[in-house]
Amino acid sequence: MQDKVTFRVFRGEADSDGIPFGRMVDYKVDLDEGMVVLDVIHRIQAEHAPDLACRWNCKAGKCGSCSAEVNGKARLMCMTRMEDILDEAPGNEPVLIKPMQSFPLTKDLVTDTSWAYRTEQQIKPINGPEETDWVFHQEEADRLQEFRSCIECMLCVNTCHVLREHKMFEEFAGPRFFVRLASLEMHPLDNESRIPEIKDDFGIGYCNITRCCTEVCPAGIQITDNAIIPLKERVVTEYFDPLIDPLNTALNLTSGVLSYFTEDFSKSADPGNMKKAENAIEEERARANEALKEEAERTERARKRYRSK
Ligand code: SF4
Ligand code: SF4
Ligand code: FES
Repeated sequence: MQDKVTFRVFRGEADSDGIPFGRMVDYKVDLDEGMVVLDVIHRIQAEHAPDLACRWNCKAGKCGSCSAEVNGKARLMCMTRMEDILDEAPGNEPVLIKPMQSFPLTKDLVTDTSWAYRTEQQIKPINGPEETDWVFHQEEADRLQEFRSCIECMLCVNTCHVLREHKMFEEFAGPRFFVRLASLEMHPLDNESRIPEIKDDFGIGYCNITRCCTEVCPAGIQITDNAIIPLKERVVTEYFDPLIDPLNTALNLTSGVLSYFTEDFSKSADPGNMKKAENAIEEERARANEALKEEAERTERARKRYRSK
């Protein structure tokens, strides 16, 4: 391994409008065996630039603080080995270190991720059973455990084009929070009905399953396959499955059906037929609600039987 490396690091702040301004600054530092990118940043702070701002905490890939872009890829600096970086760009090229580009800049390598705290607050906490004698299967625990291993580094959010390029922070919860929502929605004891929010408030439809988030996740969470796609399937089942709710499906799938009940149509339509159509809808809804109630009662009876074993 070479004994010196040049780090080209972003130095700058945001102006009063939040627009980052600054420049890339070169630092040449000694390399020791076994160093990670964060070690080099610490050496730069110790020997060249004590005012270089960088967030870190555990240096063990657990706190999710040291996220940055190293040679254009979102990574944890504490888990990125220098020998791998040098292999990626042989020939003494400078190593580029930038802050996460999707979040507002605070200073140098530090970004403002307070959006994540606001989004977390919008998610209803678990609504579990009153009784404390609950039981659930190991397979269910294993499935949730994957989601619980998220370290909230926001590398997936930084990479997702819906947020990075399109800045849809108000409309789209982003991969990290679909992992969180999946951990609640798939929790066997959670009674909350989350699918309408996942569809409408958290905007899961904007995800087009590119899997870029999964590629950068340092916790190895299969964000797209295990969290987002199952949530999308639940949305489809709830809103667009003709076997479960033919009427709603028709209403959701085609505005043409809906147009039968618009004001304009009703002006020209026979009022008697309109009344019959409205009654038919009400009856269909009542049947669907009855079926849902019976299903919930069956589930409750099954749970009681299981508990009494
Ligand atoms: S899979 Fe979805 S959430 Fe993940 S990066 Fe692509 S669009 Fe974003
Ligand atoms: S899902 Fe992965 S990449 Fe996203 S915040 Fe959690 S640990 Fe980081
Ligand atoms: S310092 Fe904690 S994850 Fe890197």
